[in-house]
Amino acid sequence: MRDRRILKNKNVLLGLTGSVAIYRSVELARRLIEAGARVDVIFTEAALKFINPLLIESVTGRKPYSDTFQFPLSHIELSQNSDIMVVAPATANIIGKFASGIADDLLSTAFLAMPPGKVLIAPGMNWRMYENPAVQENINRLRARGVKFIGPEKGPLCCGEEGYGRLSDIEDILQEIENLLSDKDMKGFKVLVTAGPTREYIDTVRFISNRSSGKMGFALARIARQRGADVTVVSGPVSLRPPHGVKVIKIETTSELKEAVMCLIPDIDILFMAAAPADFTCKKEPGKLKRTQTISLELQPTVDIIAQVGRLSRRPFLVGFAAETSEDIDSAKQKLLQKGLDMIVLNNISEPGAGFEVDTNRVLIIDRDSVEPTELLPKEEIASIIIDRVLKKMMLAREVS
Ligand SMILES: Cc1cc2nc3c(=O)[nH]c(=O)nc-3n(C[C@H](O)[C@H](O)[C@H](O)COP(=O)(O)O)c2cc1C
Repeated sequence: MRDRRILKNKNVLLGLTGSVAIYRSVELARRLIEAGARVDVIFTEAALKFINPLLIESVTGRKPYSDTFQFPLSHIELSQNSDIMVVAPATANIIGKFASGIADDLLSTAFLAMPPGKVLIAPGMNWRMYENPAVQENINRLRARGVKFIGPEKGPLCCGEEGYGRLSDIEDILQEIENLLSDKDMKGFKVLVTAGPTREYIDTVRFISNRSSGKMGFALARIARQRGADVTVVSGPVSLRPPHGVKVIKIETTSELKEAVMCLIPDIDILFMAAAPADFTCKKEPGKLKRTQTISLELQPTVDIIAQVGRLSRRPFLVGFAAETSEDIDSAKQKLLQKGLDMIVLNNISEPGAGFEVDTNRVLIIDRDSVEPTELLPKEEIASIIIDRVLKKMMLAREVS
């Protein structure tokens, strides 16, 4: 479940151009509408040859535009009334026109009336076209003026070839629109999030792990990135698509998690330890154990990563997560103090709709001075509340020092 509140009541001006990838823009328009945005669409002449505007009108509930001269001043009014202009797919031709300041149709004219920082371009074209120096030069010129780009991605293209040129994933485009529309109160912050479970191997194929899905960690990463932070996720094996614009380092075991965290930490301002590392490890047998004999495993506790971070003389703002089967505030507070954390987020995993695997959570946000309960909310809303708390605490600490 995605928290798309940022798009609610926003005015999005969607430019459609003559690329085969235009069929995917229908889904983009639909999902923007679903999130509560108002979507006005401008078709280029070429785009009109690919899809019928009736399809877009049915999705957006608004008549699309294409003719500069049908409504005088529509090129200015559409731009002025929009929070963001998104051109997806953007052809090599429209990128060239934007870069050169050509205004010979409604889309290119409206572009010139838009602040460059409020324009997101998602190119879609054959890889040879994309790699052409003229196209690259045009993209660089637009970037230098503050225009934002997303993609293209490498992958199978409509022409049957493969390479860079594929329109970005619609979910990634939506996330980038949200990133551009969000307040950037985390700009300048370097954030590290650990997410998901770890595995401790018994033999080559079997391991000890837990039910962590990584959803809470990925939600924190997505919201921190949306609010302008530079975000890295160290993730155990999960089946989630990483948030757009976030660096992901994949690990498997608890000691790999520790190594990654310790290596990145000197550069980090806030560390969210939302991963659920396996608490026990055992000696890994070579090969695959036969089921013919009874075996007993000797389990040793794994390294306590967060406590090690808590002992560092220079360390980031440190947020721990405790998954418990009761709301034991006293033991969470004890953990906070013993391990040198700045905050601990306690979730009662036995409560319906909270904890592992589900999209929602209800938590207690605990620091040295306070205990703040949240309602049962989507994990991304919980992430926003946690981040608000962290920023407030950091600000207070700065004022005091
Ligand atoms: C079937 C077909 C597919 C095309 N696909 C693309 C494409 O994916 N990307 C692109 O840049 N141009 C593509 N073109 C070329 C553009 O449609 C052409 O350059 C056109 O002038 C673009 O106009 P516009 O930028 O005003 O929409 C395609 C043309 C055809 C006939």
